[in-house]
Amino acid sequence: MRFISSIIAPFKSPSLSDIKKNKIPIHIAIIMDGNGRWARKRGLPRIVGHKKGADALKNIVTLCKDVGIKYLTVYSFSSENWQRPQDEVSELMDLFVEVLQRELESLHKNGIKIVLLGQREIIPLRILKIFEISEEKTKDNKELLLNVAFSYGSRQEIANAAKKMCMEYKNKEFSSEENIEKIFSKFLYTSDCPDPDLLIRTSGEYRISNFLLWQIAYTELYFTKTLWPDFNKKNFYKAIYDYQRRNRRFGKL
Ligand code: FPP
Repeated sequence: MRFISSIIAPFKSPSLSDIKKNKIPIHIAIIMDGNGRWARKRGLPRIVGHKKGADALKNIVTLCKDVGIKYLTVYSFSSENWQRPQDEVSELMDLFVEVLQRELESLHKNGIKIVLLGQREIIPLRILKIFEISEEKTKDNKELLLNVAFSYGSRQEIANAAKKMCMEYKNKEFSSEENIEKIFSKFLYTSDCPDPDLLIRTSGEYRISNFLLWQIAYTELYFTKTLWPDFNKKNFYKAIYDYQRRNRRFGKL
C-alpha cells in the first residue's frame, strides 16, 4: 500500500487536509527564482515579473501562517545581484521600498516579525531605513519570523562570522567540551533561528547560489520547475507534502 501511494503521490495535488499537523517544517527557506523568465515569456518588462513575484511572496507568507510555519527565509536580493544592469537594480529597489511601505501595517497586524539578513553596510540608506523601520515596528511579533535575505551572500556571512568570533574570543582557549559549531552559529545573521527544515527553489535551476550554505547542512531540498510568480498554494502544499514523506536521519541510522 505504501509502495502504491509513493508512486501516485507525485500526481496528486495535496490540500491542507493532506498535510500532517505533527510534521510541519518549522523553518522554510525559499530561493524565489524565475521572475525575469516569467515576464519574458509574456513579452513584459522584467520588473513586472518582480512585481508578480512580490505578490506570490505575500501569498506564501499568509499560507505559512495558516499552516503553522514559524520561520520563513526568502532570498530576495543577493550580493551578486548588485551587478545587474543599473536600471533593473534601481527598479527593484523602488519595488522593495514600495512593497515594505504598503505591506508593513498588515504584516504587523498579522504578528509577523521582519528581519533583514545581509550586508547592511553596503545597502543604500533609503532602503536600509525602510528595512530598519520594519524591523523596529515588528520586533516583538511572534506568529512568524520572516527573514528577508537582501544584499546577502552566504560566503560573506560565514567569513564575517569567523572574523567576529576571532575578535570576540581573541585570547580564549576552547576546551574539548565546548560546542564550537554552536558558538560559531551565534555569529551568523541567522543566530536567532533554527536551521531550515526545507529549502525550496523555483524555476528549474538545481543550485544553491550562495544561500545559507552553513545552515542547510541537513535541510531537505525541493526543486520545482514552476517560476516564482506562478508559485501558489497548490505548489506550496505539494512541497510540504513531499517534505513530510522524506525520512530525515541527520546522518544517523
Ligand atoms: C529572481 O528572479 C528574483 C529576484 C532577484 C528578486 C525577487 C524579489 C521579489 C520577489 C520581491 C520581494 C519583495 C520583498 C519586499 C521581500 P530572476 O530575476 O533571477 O529571474 P530569472 O532567473 O528568470 O531572470
